[in-house]
Amino acid sequence: MLAKILSGAVVGINGYSVNVEVDISNGFPCFEIVGLPGSAVKESKERVRTAIKNSGFELPAKRITVNLAPADTKKEGPAFDLPIALGVLSCMGKIKKELICDCLIIGELSLDGSIKPVRGVLPIVYSAFKSGIKKCIVPYGNADEAALVKGMDVYSFNSITEIIKGIIPEKHKIDIKKVFSSENDLSSPDFSDVRGQEFVKRAMEIAAAGYHNILLSGHPGSGKTMLARRLPSILPDLTFEESIEITKIYSVAGLLQNGISLITKRPFRSPHHTVSAAALTGGGGIPKPGEVSLAHYGVLFLDELPEFKRDVLEILRQPMEDGNVTISRVNSSATYPSDFMLVAAMNPCPCGYLGDKKCHCSTSEIAKYKKKISGPLLDRIDIYADTPDVSYSDLINSGKSESSADIKKRVAAARAIQLQRYKSDGIFFNSRLTTPLMEKYCILEKDAEFLLREAFDSLGLSARSYHKILKVSRTIADLEGNEIISINHLAEALQYRGFNSQDMT
Ligand SMILES: Nc1ncnc2c1ncn2[C@@H]1O[C@H](COP(=O)(O)OP(=O)(O)OP(=O)(O)O)[C@@H](O)[C@H]1O
Ligand SMILES: [Mg+2]
Repeated sequence: MLAKILSGAVVGINGYSVNVEVDISNGFPCFEIVGLPGSAVKESKERVRTAIKNSGFELPAKRITVNLAPADTKKEGPAFDLPIALGVLSCMGKIKKELICDCLIIGELSLDGSIKPVRGVLPIVYSAFKSGIKKCIVPYGNADEAALVKGMDVYSFNSITEIIKGIIPEKHKIDIKKVFSSENDLSSPDFSDVRGQEFVKRAMEIAAAGYHNILLSGHPGSGKTMLARRLPSILPDLTFEESIEITKIYSVAGLLQNGISLITKRPFRSPHHTVSAAALTGGGGIPKPGEVSLAHYGVLFLDELPEFKRDVLEILRQPMEDGNVTISRVNSSATYPSDFMLVAAMNPCPCGYLGDKKCHCSTSEIAKYKKKISGPLLDRIDIYADTPDVSYSDLINSGKSESSADIKKRVAAARAIQLQRYKSDGIFFNSRLTTPLMEKYCILEKDAEFLLREAFDSLGLSARSYHKILKVSRTIADLEGNEIISINHLAEALQYRGFNSQDMT
């Protein structure tokens, strides 16, 4: 007896089909899985055997062979438990064929026969749907996630016994409109809590509008962490497509828990400075997305930047440049998207009080401290904002500062302008402008052009700084709704220039 069942697996954030073929024939009783199974898949036979027994069936004393095709790709994870078990039961004639034919099946089994959720359901279901499959059986805990694929009939079960009984549950439905609400989350901290600091708030508004990387530098307690944590509240809303892409990454990472089926907020990831290179970019025997990918379309916040190991920071360059990161292993390689906005915070010197009489750091200590951050990383930061100490009068001022919702409106308007302008250029934000596109879109007024030339000579700007200034002034002009960059826009952009890598060597 032969049974063929359709299942799937993921590489990176893309799913692919795996055909599970089960054959039961006469011969020496054994249970074999072929087709390049990884260790978790090899162990599958023990789970399947016991789960079937505990669901009330006796495995025949025959030769059971399972083949996972295509045989040239290594299969990892426990998601093949359920298709293998259903294949075996089908060969034994215990299951209605029509339930499982033309149906994608994924799920992990417990020894008692219950079905447990697995990682990567969304990408697998999505790719199966694209290849023409219209029906899937998934663990109950993954049903919402699978139902995000519009047009797919999703059936979810809690145990093998439920499937055997042949009771077909209702198609699982979720209300996308309800899940995908782009309204502001009231629980996230708001900019109205921050007293004063108008300059830094403005810098953050520009960063959010053009998706520019930003570095905050200031004394301890000046509010850098407080400000950075409020950034998500002014970032433009996610589109549905962006939401799906982020959700795929979280699905593969196994982070869609507690009833979350769709990520609707821009991610904000703040790894501790002791983070390893593998945790930052992704890794592991079976490659998993790292912090840079979990921050995709959102913010990667590196607080206390100089405390991070230099080699860890160095590794950020490639994902920041390419917008994706490839992890290679002996048997497989996976590419994860990593288009994030970097927000970093640091003190200006080792003791933190540079410029104050409390500071006793020597020039060489300060230089050594700043050198911890590599030049190429600093070169990728468009906006530098000094965070001054908040004054007493600002602190006691009980008048409410501008709320995040108000700032967000301006950011959203600037984003709409960019989406419209770059619709045929393949980019979404000013920070992603290439040199030819800058020539096309960063048109300066005459006096602005003059100021930039002056600044270039007198400040000794590098080509890279020149381009950064142009991109930031493009965003400032967009926040004002101007197509041409004026001298005011440019002058403001020059204020965020900060130090560049040349200054630090
Ligand atoms: N502008 C401000 N308005 C209101 N409260 C503020 C402001 N700045 C700082 N604070 C208060 O000071 C606390 C410390 O700020 P925060 O932790 O953000 O400082 P920091 O610059 O990150 O310091 P460190 O360099 O030590 O990490 C905040 O939790 C907040 O209560
Ligand atoms: Mg801090």
